[in-house]
Amino acid sequence: MTAPARTRDSAELIRAEEPVLAHNYHPLPVVVARAEGAWVEDVEGRRYLDMLAGYSALNFGHRHPALIEAAHRQLDRLTLTSRAFHNDRLAEFAERLAALTGLDMVLPMNTGAEAVESAIKVARKWAYDVKGVPADRATVVVAAENFHGRTTTIVSFSTDETARSGFGPFTPGFRIVPYNDLAALEAAVDETTAAVLIEPIQGEAGVVVPDDGYLAGVRELTRRTGCLFIADEIQSGLGRTGRTLAVEHEGVVPDVVLLGKALGGGIVPVSAVVAHREVLSVLRPGEHGSTFGGNPLAAAVGTAVIELLETGEFQRRAQELGVVLRDGLASLVGQGVVGFRARGLWAGVDIDPAIGTGREISERLMREGVLVKDTHGSTIRLAPPLTVTEQELRSALKTLEAVLAHGA
Ligand SMILES: Cc1ncc(COP(=O)(O)O)c(C=O)c1O
Repeated sequence: MTAPARTRDSAELIRAEEPVLAHNYHPLPVVVARAEGAWVEDVEGRRYLDMLAGYSALNFGHRHPALIEAAHRQLDRLTLTSRAFHNDRLAEFAERLAALTGLDMVLPMNTGAEAVESAIKVARKWAYDVKGVPADRATVVVAAENFHGRTTTIVSFSTDETARSGFGPFTPGFRIVPYNDLAALEAAVDETTAAVLIEPIQGEAGVVVPDDGYLAGVRELTRRTGCLFIADEIQSGLGRTGRTLAVEHEGVVPDVVLLGKALGGGIVPVSAVVAHREVLSVLRPGEHGSTFGGNPLAAAVGTAVIELLETGEFQRRAQELGVVLRDGLASLVGQGVVGFRARGLWAGVDIDPAIGTGREISERLMREGVLVKDTHGSTIRLAPPLTVTEQELRSALKTLEAVLAHGA
């Protein structure tokens, strides 16, 4: 009989990754082995409150029972057909997603970056077929400090040198304007503009919330000038900000909404381009696709996610607990926090650099049992699962207060 393999502890597992995994990430030194709700447990059985929630991919918490059940049921029936055939789950997914967003048609993909890429293709095709832009002249206007993913085309219009440097030559056809600046946007839009592509709230930039009126202004400008408004709601959407979509805070319906992350319930990668019929109808067979896009497992989990959102409960929780988060952070301003931006259960918190970098604060919080992620210098991001309880949220804020007090 062979001896059972000795299980490796966290330190051994971290060391084992080093020679065999590409070093494109610098994770916190925690090795998660199990999770439920807002909590994760490491290999040694230490528990941590997950205040990052997979960058909002886990809006419904880890292993939400309804989502796990939907996945199990589907696993026992049918997992993949490819789009060479129809599957019996896709129609309902698309119908309900279109209804949830107030739009007409769905292009199912897998990752967020794929949804963004797909939307750029669709916008260009729309510009040529419908708007009449001369061939290969279409432009897309984007915002500085954007984050839309990691493909070569998407990093072509990033302003983050770490994301871009060494990956050229870049895809042409993009114009970059400052975020939250309608005059600059107006100046950049012309008869070649296929679309304006923005995040309603810039997540990776540090949860940058634009001024009231900006999103409505983008909607008015794009309508008036005859180009598409593409809202990348991959991180801001699906309940995070207290509404199904962040654009709803300004009563705006874009022409194209991009969804991902939480659409897969933290179980499978599911993304989608959701748009008006006139826009998505430009695609014809053979012009775009994905082997896994719209697979029955993804559609079943995505439909279960939509069912959760249809109750309104998660949007309401994000809104109500968002007040607790905002009040808690406001009380820390001057106590190690120099500023913060928040909407719903989502915040970017600027830590006094004298106390530590975002990374150092994240590591200290980890040692106290709270997981967060830093971004840009001394900013940390808080995005707990929308299932987090008020008590859990208050305890995370207390831990942050203690970590900051200790570091001062
Ligand atoms: C707004 C936004 N768009 C697109 C993406 C890319 O998603 P993915 O990592 O699934 O490709 C992200 C990921 O953080 C995002 O925040």
